[in-house]
Amino acid sequence: MLPRTLFVFLTLLLLPAAQPLILSRRAALEISLTFASTISDSSSSTSATSQQPAYDGYASTYDLLDDKVASSLSFLGLSQGRSDLLSNSYGSVLEICAGTGINLPYYPKRKLKSLTMLDISPNMLKLAEERNESYPCENVKFDVADITDGRAVIGRYGEGAFDTIVDTFSLCVLDTETVRTLELVRRLIKPDGKILLFENARADNSFVGAYQDLTAQAIAKKGGGKGCVFNQRVDELVKEAGLTILDRNDYAGGLFRAYVCGRGG
Ligand SMILES: C[S@@+](CC[C@H](N)C(=O)[O-])C[C@H]1O[C@@H](n2cnc3c(N)ncnc32)[C@H](O)[C@@H]1O
Repeated sequence: MLPRTLFVFLTLLLLPAAQPLILSRRAALEISLTFASTISDSSSSTSATSQQPAYDGYASTYDLLDDKVASSLSFLGLSQGRSDLLSNSYGSVLEICAGTGINLPYYPKRKLKSLTMLDISPNMLKLAEERNESYPCENVKFDVADITDGRAVIGRYGEGAFDTIVDTFSLCVLDTETVRTLELVRRLIKPDGKILLFENARADNSFVGAYQDLTAQAIAKKGGGKGCVFNQRVDELVKEAGLTILDRNDYAGGLFRAYVCGRGG
């Protein structure tokens, strides 16, 4: 077994990078120390349905952490990555798990006919609505909904309703619901539409990947981890849902991956 100090070091090294939007160094330290002392703890579990109260609670500090972490990790190019990815969006756009609207500044507004921002947390979405005053997209609506409730979501929008569907850094929060959610996305997208994903992913490097496997569940359960299980094999999940990967860009050695996907056959 690796010594405690090594776990602390690795967590400090990797965790802030794995949680670019939501984690401060202080939170990373707190998690790494807690993790090191409770590495065998498997008492609680995360689930998509538990996320609403949690994210309602995180909402007021979410952007403060994001600003600090994003600026300290600017060398990773994640902001540019968002911008590059979202430059592919057009027409009627659905962003799932939209949070506080971090992506709003990056949309190519002239190419959009409409934008629907969906999130389970009213508090997160309220901040997105406020943010839209600074980066106004026209024809925007903010829908509080559970993306894992396929029947309700299809009932609300209909099959093949969107040209573009976006998700950034939320598949890890959906955890065991990821494939089902991507299958739903496949039903919501038009046949020639584009699905744009920017996600935490399990790195290909076997040492880093093994570390992620060892720590992911414990980190997700701690407050600073915000429910994100950061070792998902995203390529496999996307393919399992029937989507086709058209383009992929890796950041930080593949800890973060941006995908342009098609609906598949
Ligand atoms: C890690 S945040 C990502 C927010 C944003 N996409 C970003 O890039 O910063 C995850 C978001 O997913 C939302 N969420 C979690 N479970 C959900 C669900 N079942 N349906 C819809 N939104 C959900 C949370 O409320 C939160 O805003």
